[in-house]
Amino acid sequence: MAATETPSNSNAPLSNLQEWEDFLKVCYPEETAASSKAFQATDPNKAKEQFRNYEASARPSVREFYRLNHRHQTYDFVQAKKKEFLSLSRRKMGIWEAMELLNTLVDDSDPDTDLSQLEHLLQTAEQIRRDGHPRWFILTGLIHDLGKILCLYGEPQWAVVGDTFPVGCGYSDKIVFHQFFADNPDSREPKYQTRTGIYSEGCGLENVHLSWGHDEYLYHVVKDYLPPEALYMIRYHSFYPAHREGEYQHLMNGRDKKVFAWVRAFNPYDLYTKSHERPNVEQLRPFYNELISEYFPTELRW
Ligand SMILES: [Fe+2]
Repeated sequence: MAATETPSNSNAPLSNLQEWEDFLKVCYPEETAASSKAFQATDPNKAKEQFRNYEASARPSVREFYRLNHRHQTYDFVQAKKKEFLSLSRRKMGIWEAMELLNTLVDDSDPDTDLSQLEHLLQTAEQIRRDGHPRWFILTGLIHDLGKILCLYGEPQWAVVGDTFPVGCGYSDKIVFHQFFADNPDSREPKYQTRTGIYSEGCGLENVHLSWGHDEYLYHVVKDYLPPEALYMIRYHSFYPAHREGEYQHLMNGRDKKVFAWVRAFNPYDLYTKSHERPNVEQLRPFYNELISEYFPTELRW
């Protein structure tokens, strides 16, 4: 994550994790209030050519990031990472402590004008709070990216962030940089390349393995403590092919389709909450400490 790293570094092609999210904003521009379709997929008919345009204008670091992500996120890789991390035996810590830990993630953004990771989380939560949403929704905004502490365990960027997609079945051609899947060994496994692959029609996302990253990791850390809508937001907030492109409906069950409305409701707060007004961490801390203790024990397993 240091400023000296170049796009040739296969662990960290992006100079910071925000570069990926900035690219998403280009792919999925903010909708105006009049055209807002917050409770349906944004534009299921978006042409492949539109992605080609975004791809052509993407920074080399973003392109390299997707090349590595699509090359290495195989079905076997996902199983191995689940085995490695989901025993949650690395450490015990509370939510605020995890926020402070995430804050130590060094990137080369300008400290005078850009917000720290902790300030970003607070800003997202504060926007949700201002819009009058329930307390669990505010809390979800606060914690949704804490899984990025995977970076601090030395995990490469392409195994922490990036839009997620199912492994073990065919790749949607609406996934950005879809062409890089040609180098993924799974693309030569016929059993992984049919429409449903190893899954069955309507089997439910609970039974589908997505590419590995911070969403799935955090979901397992918090799954015993939050309402289902919050857990969907956390687990699927990077699943852009589904929540913004309307893909992979055939793997969803009725519950997934219903609760995905909340994933879509959350997305604008994730992507577009950006003001240069620095949140006052010390002033906000009592409110958030109370909110955290309403749902979580003092320590969680990570
Ligand atoms: Fe995220």
